[in-house]
Amino acid sequence: MEKDGDGGIRQCCKVIALIIFSTLSILPLHFFLLTTYNHVATPKVKRSALLPLRFRHDGTFKILQVADMHYGMGKISRCRDVLPSEFDRCSDINTTSFLRNMIHTEMPDLIVFTGDNIKGTADAAESLFSAFAPVIESRIPWAAILGNHDQESTMNREELMSLISLMDYSISQVNPYSEVPRKLVEIDGFGNYNIKIHGSFGSDMVNTSMLNLYLLDSGDRETVDGRQTYGWIKKSQLLWLSETSKQLQGTYVSPALAFFHIPIQEVRGLWYKEITGQFQEAVACSSVNTGVLDSLVAMGDVKAVFMGHDHLNDFCGDIDGIWFCYGGGVGYHAYGRAGWSRRVRVISAELGQKSQKRVKKIRTWKRLDDDFFTKIDEQVLWED
Ligand SMILES: *[C@@H]1O[C@H](CO)[C@@H](O)[C@H](O)[C@H]1NC(C)=O
Ligand SMILES: *[C@@H]1O[C@H](CO)[C@@H](O)[C@H](O)[C@H]1NC(C)=O
Repeated sequence: MEKDGDGGIRQCCKVIALIIFSTLSILPLHFFLLTTYNHVATPKVKRSALLPLRFRHDGTFKILQVADMHYGMGKISRCRDVLPSEFDRCSDINTTSFLRNMIHTEMPDLIVFTGDNIKGTADAAESLFSAFAPVIESRIPWAAILGNHDQESTMNREELMSLISLMDYSISQVNPYSEVPRKLVEIDGFGNYNIKIHGSFGSDMVNTSMLNLYLLDSGDRETVDGRQTYGWIKKSQLLWLSETSKQLQGTYVSPALAFFHIPIQEVRGLWYKEITGQFQEAVACSSVNTGVLDSLVAMGDVKAVFMGHDHLNDFCGDIDGIWFCYGGGVGYHAYGRAGWSRRVRVISAELGQKSQKRVKKIRTWKRLDDDFFTKIDEQVLWED
């Protein structure tokens, strides 16, 4: 080829370009990186949310929690546990409509997906794009973590979190970075990160985080002493969590909320306590207890934890001064209870009316996928 001069080099470039292009097109990421218009591939840049997130000028910030979509392959993934009369016309598309309706009804400032976003698919990337489509259309910032099912098809947990972090308007992160030097913190799992919510533009708190969110990877399944059990939050994650919380706490301790998929053992004890919502199935958690509750209590800033995993539980209960709330199941391709509506949880933080210098109140409620998108179980979780 050397002998051919320019022609040879051109030929060589063509071959390299062809190799690059065909490699890209077999990667699951290819349709994300390249959008084809009239057969010409043009690079697509991620559409990013404006960071940091901020309270609205009216002093509110609203989060929509979406638990357990179990999104499969769209129309061909049939619904589970719906009434016999509903079965014929029910698929993943119903999950999509429900999510779209909830976004329009609540107009949240952030949407948090608490895991088991996809399940029972032949192509993880395609399912993620379909599952998150209503959110991306809405241009509302969103964050996701993984459950125990997400990695069951064509992508592992690290790949899933990196694709999720690259999707439009996603503010999800694979794992935390240290400040200086900027490098990945050694931590178990994929999808451990912190989101700060600052005061609105023009307020005194424009540079201050007034509400902190901690998202954690509670893993999938593990074998302990020869027995299968669910994953759990590891010591390395708790260490990162308490260090992050310490760094965030200045003269004033901003309240924080935590999100993870698999509940902790102590949630079982709420069976005997007063709760808001329904406790309809056993708490499915790990046999290992690393002291998540003690860590959260010691940190002092976390006021409430939001979990998924057990679709028939949608309650909030107080354990040692911290609320533990289930999202209740969203997905129609997921198990549920026929006649018991799929549901979402909404969390709303409000600043004090006059000064807007701190969070005054955190409230939560749920909305059902019935004819009226009925709002239920509204309660105050925390008041300053
Ligand atoms: C699913 O969506 C179809 C089409 O919109 C609708 O007719 C049906 O009632 C929905 N099923 C359920 C269980 O919501
Ligand atoms: C916020 O930070 C910007 C940039 O550092 C600074 O110019 C501004 O004065 C700060 N505002 C407040 C209210 O602290």
